[in-house]
Amino acid sequence: MQLQSSQNITERLDACAKAADQYLAAWLDTFAHTPRQLKDAIAYSLLGPGKRIRPALTILCAEAVGGTMAAALPAAGSLELIHCFSLVHDDLPAMDDDDLRRGRPTNHKVFGEATAILAGDAMHTLAFELLATRVPDARMAVRLVQELADATGPQGMIGGQVLDTCHPTEEKPFTTSAEGLTKLQTIHRMKTGALIKAACRMGAISAAADDATVQTVDQLGCAIGLAFQIVDDMLDVTASDAAMGKRTGKDAEAGKLTYPGLLGMDETRRHLAAQVAIAEAMVKHLGSAANPLAQLVHYLADRGH
Ligand code: IPE
Ligand code: IPE
Ligand code: MG
Ligand code: MG
Ligand code: MG
Repeated sequence: MQLQSSQNITERLDACAKAADQYLAAWLDTFAHTPRQLKDAIAYSLLGPGKRIRPALTILCAEAVGGTMAAALPAAGSLELIHCFSLVHDDLPAMDDDDLRRGRPTNHKVFGEATAILAGDAMHTLAFELLATRVPDARMAVRLVQELADATGPQGMIGGQVLDTCHPTEEKPFTTSAEGLTKLQTIHRMKTGALIKAACRMGAISAAADDATVQTVDQLGCAIGLAFQIVDDMLDVTASDAAMGKRTGKDAEAGKLTYPGLLGMDETRRHLAAQVAIAEAMVKHLGSAANPLAQLVHYLADRGH
């Protein structure tokens, strides 16, 4: 496949981010009966300087299967709302206890824990409201709500956060590295992969893609989702706080189960390459309109090097 320059994908990502931000900011502006402090706390995280990878995946997957950015924006916005809710709660003292996010103080450091918890709750609710009110086709809206609920809920992101953070008592400690890898993949696929896979699937669904196409996009999203958290684990070991805009070196300190921690850096790179290869094969299968997704996969994987 002919890859275009990486400048193209960064420009494309910027355009997707700008569109999602404008869409969400305009919606937030219409909230007349929201306490000022809550609105400010939501805007601080939702419109803060993040990469907007999930909205970009939704838009690029929609376009890859013949859809438009405009039709994908409610889904794209709903994904960023859930993602930002998850970050605000992930940073709380009861969870990862972080004070730096996107190069700025975390939400609870600025607004206090109570407001941060409630801003997270609000963004969670707003994600579903956005789909319910902004997707013109009622059947499509219900389908998108179901996709997002599955990815966010106890069998998806929130379940994964429990496995990652709360060390459930019924969980047996693993005794072999194969068991460790299975547990690690389960956590990563749930806490991060589920939402990224949903971003891809919801893009395809917004474009009214057929079931076979959604299935290909599903496999693409599955590979990108795991690759994304592998890279996040790698960067926690290799990158600086300044480069990441968040505290690094914390996973080992907190005893988190991570790819580099379990397998070492070389084997981690091999696992990353395997997911990239799956993603590339799926992009190829989708055809030439999916080319920007191939560039995005490489852009995301290269962050780890
Ligand atoms: C960070 O996600 C949390 C993970 C799931 C690893 P991102 O790296 O997408 O964070 P932002 O949105 O760009 O800040
Ligand atoms: C975050 O995983 C996953 C979610 C927020 C759902 P991490 O805890 O590794 O994310 P960072 O490293 O704090 O961004
Ligand atoms: Mg965490
Ligand atoms: Mg964290
Ligand atoms: Mg991390």
